[in-house]
Amino acid sequence: MTTRTVFITGASSGIGAASARLFAERGWNVAATMRSPEKPTGLDASDKVALLRLDVTDPTSIREAVAAAIGRFGSVDVVVNNAGFAAVGPFEASTADQVQRQFATNVFGLMDVTRAWLPHFRGRKAGVFVNIASVGGRVAFPLYSLYHSTKWAVEGFTESLQYELAPLGIRVKIIEPGPIKTDFYDRSALPVSSPGLTAYDDYVARVTPRMTGAGHSGASAESVARVIHRAATDGSRKLRYTANSAAVLAVRRLLPDALFSAVVRRIFGG
Ligand SMILES: NC(=O)c1ccc[n+]([C@@H]2O[C@H](COP(=O)([O-])OP(=O)(O)OC[C@H]3O[C@@H](n4cnc5c(N)ncnc54)[C@H](OP(=O)(O)O)[C@@H]3O)[C@@H](O)[C@H]2O)c1
Repeated sequence: MTTRTVFITGASSGIGAASARLFAERGWNVAATMRSPEKPTGLDASDKVALLRLDVTDPTSIREAVAAAIGRFGSVDVVVNNAGFAAVGPFEASTADQVQRQFATNVFGLMDVTRAWLPHFRGRKAGVFVNIASVGGRVAFPLYSLYHSTKWAVEGFTESLQYELAPLGIRVKIIEPGPIKTDFYDRSALPVSSPGLTAYDDYVARVTPRMTGAGHSGASAESVARVIHRAATDGSRKLRYTANSAAVLAVRRLLPDALFSAVVRRIFGG
């Protein structure tokens, strides 16, 4: 059997890095793409692992990384759209530029990477896109309004795409991680606040430690990588995969809106 190849965005840390390691361990070729491949990440380049530069907000870098992956490995079987971050804070404190940056990475970047791979997948009449959404693409928590709106967008985008791509032999998958212990809650987060806007201070002080605490005690990036690998290889048309999120999603399904919101308020101190 020929060696399969996966192309991963945001492979410098967290879920992307864990996925790159897992696919490599399982014998795949890995195009591990990241904004700064020159920085140490714990991932070593080898004959089966290419470290490629890709900023999902930079169309030239997308084009070059796609060409480099095809040049290096011949073809690609699976694209993992993983790159993403959260802007965190009250919506009123955000700027239009912050909203733009949030969508540029989590939504428009994901769409641009997907579009760049479609001709290749169509030519092969096969391919799998694994899009990393979030439990936050199905439910919403306090102070993450910008982030949630991007992940809800990824959910709708991916769910719709499955129909037009199925006749072409291309499948799409949505991964919905719950809290996962990565740089997401610290290094990667974009704090949203506005000097002089104090009306939200008490609320932010009450809620933020609980939200961050949930992340710090979350599941491992490796556990999500295993779900991504399963989604990439199970050969099914299954669309959504949970990862440390099944319980929350079950509760969300069972409770009416008002009751679910009351639970969120109770947990996060809203
Ligand atoms: N951690 C969680 O609790 C959680 C839960 C649900 C969903 N997710 C999703 O899982 C994905 C991975 O996050 P993570 O938890 O692994 O956090 P992470 O460790 O912060 O990883 C985020 C990755 O995205 C990359 N990235 C950010 N902006 C980028 C851009 N413009 N172009 C290319 N790469 C970019 C980062 O690169 P740099 O190293 O250059 O910053 C980093 O490699 C994200 O889509 C996130 O929304 C996370």
